[in-house]
Amino acid sequence: MLSIRNLHAGYGKVKVLHGISIDVPKASVVTLIGSNGAGKTTTMRAISGMIRPSAGEITMGIGANAKRIDALESHRIARLGLAHSPEGRRVFATMSVTDNLMLGAFPRLTSARPRGDVKADLERAIEMFPRLKERRHQLAGTLSGGEQQMLAMARAIMMNPELVLLDEPSMGLAPILVEEVFRIIGNLKSQGVTMLLVEQFAAAALNVADYGYVLENGKIAAHGPAAELRNDPSVKAAYLGASH
Ligand SMILES: Nc1ncnc2c1ncn2[C@@H]1O[C@H](COP(=O)(O)OP(=O)(O)OP(=O)(O)O)[C@@H](O)[C@H]1O
Ligand SMILES: [Mg+2]
Repeated sequence: MLSIRNLHAGYGKVKVLHGISIDVPKASVVTLIGSNGAGKTTTMRAISGMIRPSAGEITMGIGANAKRIDALESHRIARLGLAHSPEGRRVFATMSVTDNLMLGAFPRLTSARPRGDVKADLERAIEMFPRLKERRHQLAGTLSGGEQQMLAMARAIMMNPELVLLDEPSMGLAPILVEEVFRIIGNLKSQGVTMLLVEQFAAAALNVADYGYVLENGKIAAHGPAAELRNDPSVKAAYLGASH
């Protein structure tokens, strides 16, 4: 579904990614693990067209439908079915929860994406995130940080995307909500949603993922099936903490 080959990207003179290659097969969950500043968010920004790669290829889609997206603008990439739930909360503060979710479905309402049943999907999104259900008429800016985080994730799903990028969906959440976020990710996975996941809780990410990549200083230092990475002594020592 997503294939990244030899990607170089950064910010002006600051080079962050030095030739990384990542594959995200359809209906799989792939996680990207790495320390602060390793380049995880930069990778997601390059995929969604927020920054322009300096070299390499990114393709999205399958077989004859595969398209190079590394030179496209963000809105064109979104039309191909990429939803990005970015780091930090990015909701429309002066709009209600429901309106934020409807905005997620915008490409479908304008027929840039297959329309499907938007209303039914809105109900499904709200059922999936019970905290949002109780607050559906509230202005998004008055939600707690954790609730806004969930809204950003629910809004990404409302696009009915081919691929979802989740950048630290559990950031700043209380432990009980972190559990809920991972439960929701598992739930989406069982519905066949393809995801690239970045999470500070690497052990939990490897539990829900099929495959993982370890990013160190802008290079892929290791990759493999999630179950293997979970048991890899060097991954354990560096990223999974003593208790795992
Ligand atoms: N807009 C920017 N301009 C210049 N440098 C940036 C910018 N955004 C990020 N960087 C730098 O790029 C490097 C990689 O940052 P990135 O946000 O991709 O890391 P990350 O792996 O997502 O880290 P974290 O786990 O802390 O979110 C860092 O050294 C960071 O300072
Ligand atoms: Mg980041």
